Amino acid sequence: MIFIDACKRKETPYTPIWMMRQAGRYLSEYKESRKKAGSFLELCHNVDLATEVTLQPVDILNVDAAILFSDILVVPLEMGLPLEFLAGEGPKFSRTIENYQDVCALKQDAYLKLDYVYDTISKVRGSLPKDKALIGFCGSPWTLATYMIEGEGSKTYAKSKKMLYANPQTMHYLLKQITDELKGYLSMQIKAGANAVMIFDSWASALEKEAYFEFSWGYMKDIAHYLKTHFPEIPVILFPKGIAGYLESIDGKFDVFGVDWGTPMELAKRILGQKYVLQGNLEPSRLYNEDSMEMAVDEIISIMGKKAGHIFNLGHGMLPDLPRENAIKLVELVHKKTKR
Ligand code: CP3
Repeated sequence: MIFIDACKRKETPYTPIWMMRQAGRYLSEYKESRKKAGSFLELCHNVDLATEVTLQPVDILNVDAAILFSDILVVPLEMGLPLEFLAGEGPKFSRTIENYQDVCALKQDAYLKLDYVYDTISKVRGSLPKDKALIGFCGSPWTLATYMIEGEGSKTYAKSKKMLYANPQTMHYLLKQITDELKGYLSMQIKAGANAVMIFDSWASALEKEAYFEFSWGYMKDIAHYLKTHFPEIPVILFPKGIAGYLESIDGKFDVFGVDWGTPMELAKRILGQKYVLQGNLEPSRLYNEDSMEMAVDEIISIMGKKAGHIFNLGHGMLPDLPRENAIKLVELVHKKTKR
């Protein structure tokens, strides 16, 4: 698998590419499948339909890897927090974590209730072409904790930060509990057939440096270390969004560092490129215009070169109204321009 070879810094015939949020509303096929399922969460629960939408972008875009179709929030859901996705508003938990007692009341071993995810992985792996990789994933403990505390997306993360600074032990207790679940969750995903795993720290940028390393990166590193000990052959990808200023302090045992669009690729290469394979980092909105897209593709390839050490990706997720033709074009361009 070209994608897995690239994660291990092996030479490949071209630079592999996949796109964060490659399954989604910009594809009419996805909207059809979601309609059949009834709702987004039902789509996550339905093994046949989740398999279908996982495979759609591989067929349509010709990307080198599929990413499991699910959501990072199914873990807090199974930990006992009722979740809804309201149309146009995003995720909402009707109950949230406010204090130590709330953390104590969370269900343990939630990862044993996520069979629908593991079944989807087995089913996808069964139908995916042999040369295409399947990526499993989870949210980072910090990013999941913010949703569990705020109850929804937030602009200020005020409740989460209040707990972090006023009751750091409670925050650590919550993060530790989530971390234990994620170790089990990603292990089960690997056993079900995931060829690589990725941890999304989407709200990394909410924290100042010292707090970031204590309350987020430390836990991501712990999960990565656990996985590299138990499954040394499975590449681990870490994606902390929005921490360009902290790159000098990034360390730990993992394979691929996901570079977001706000981090200059040159900077990431200079600081981390020797130690980790870099994945990224096209600004997704460039897909609104073909010329803007191609200019940035050339720029990224000129920085990263055509040698091992780079996986092409967006610097964050696809947007619902991006033109699919440009997503298809992007994959063609990267394959053509990086041919060895
Ligand atoms: O194709 C893929 O990348 C696989 C599937 C995937 C989804 N969510 C599907 C989804 C993945 C990897 C995620 C991760 C995820 N979910 C993250 C981390 C990555 C990131 O983008 O930063 C986060 C923060 C979430 C939480 C979440 N899920 C939000 C905030 C939303 C609403 C956003 C929106 O665009 O409406 C979701 C819903 C969601 N997850 C959708 C999809 C395709 C859209 C739901 C729909 O069909 O209406």
